[in-house]
Amino acid sequence: MPEQPYAVQLSGMTKRFPTATGEAYTAVRDIDLAVAPGRFVSVVGPTGCGKSTLLNAAAGLMPPSEGTVHVYGEPLQGLNRRASYMFQQDALLPWRSVLDNVTLGLRIRKVPADERAEQGRAWLERVGLGAFAAAYPHQLSGGMRKRAAVAQTWIVDPDILLMDEPFSALDVQTRQLMENELLTLWTGSEKTVIFVTHDLDEAISLSDEVVLLSAGPDSEVVGGYPVDLPRPRDLMDIRNSPEFNDIYRRIWSDLRNEVMKSYERRARTLQAG
Ligand SMILES: Nc1ncnc2c1ncn2[C@@H]1O[C@H](COP(=O)(O)OP(=O)(O)O)[C@@H](O)[C@H]1O
Ligand SMILES: [Mg+2]
Repeated sequence: MPEQPYAVQLSGMTKRFPTATGEAYTAVRDIDLAVAPGRFVSVVGPTGCGKSTLLNAAAGLMPPSEGTVHVYGEPLQGLNRRASYMFQQDALLPWRSVLDNVTLGLRIRKVPADERAEQGRAWLERVGLGAFAAAYPHQLSGGMRKRAAVAQTWIVDPDILLMDEPFSALDVQTRQLMENELLTLWTGSEKTVIFVTHDLDEAISLSDEVVLLSAGPDSEVVGGYPVDLPRPRDLMDIRNSPEFNDIYRRIWSDLRNEVMKSYERRARTLQAG
C-alpha cells in the first residue's frame, strides 16, 4: 500500500529576496517541513525569521528560490487551491456586509446566491455572529472581526488552513477564547493546519507539533517538538499542567537562543547603520 502523501511538504526550500545593495538576502535556507493530513502544526521563531515566507510558499503565493513544494503529493503549481489563508490583518471588505464578506469565497466559486446566504448564515451562527449578518465590519469589535474572518476561511471547506499570527493583535482574554473556538472547529474536521506564531505558549497549547525556526538570515529548522498533550484540550487547564510546562521549558531553552541571536544581529545592524 502506498504511503499517504503529506498535505504540505516543503523540501530543501531556500528563499532569497533581492535587496537595494544588489546582494540577495537569504531569508530561509534548506527548509524541510512535512505536515501530515489532519495534523495541527505550529511554526515558531523570532520576528523576521521567515515564518510568513514559509506560509506564502505553501499557499503558492511565492515560489521558492530553490527546493520544492508538494501538496498531497503533487508539485504545487500556482495557487494552492486546497488551502485557505488567514492573515494577521483580517481581509474583511469595509463596504460589504458581514454576510457578504463571509460568503466571498463561495461567490468566487460561483455558488448560487440563495445557497451562499444559507451557508453564510449557518457559519455566522457557528461563530456567534448570527445577529450581525447585515452589519458592516467597522461595527464589529476586534474579536468579532476575527470570528468573521474564521468563518470566511472555513466556509469554503479547505483541506488545509494556513494561519499567520491570526490572533496576535487581540487582547489576552479574547485571544484565548478564539484559540479555544479554533480548536473546537478543528476537532474532528480532519483539516490540516499550519499555524504561524511568535508565541510559544499559543503554539504548544494548540498543536500536535511545534516546529522551531532559527533567527534569520539563513533561517533553518532548529527542530520539531511533538506535543503529546491529550485532546480535546481546554486551553485554560492545559496551560497550568506540569506536562505543558515540561514541553514549554524544553522548547523555550532553544527558542531563547534564537531570540537572543536575532536581537544581537539587529543591534549590530543598528550600530553599523
Ligand atoms: N518581499 C520581500 N522582499 C524583501 N525581503 C523580504 C520580503 N519578504 C520578506 N522579506 C524578508 O525576509 C525575512 C523573513 O520575513 P518573514 O517571512 O516575513 O518573517 P516572519 O514572518 O518570521 O516575521 C525578513 O527579514 C524580511 O524582511
Ligand atoms: Mg510574519
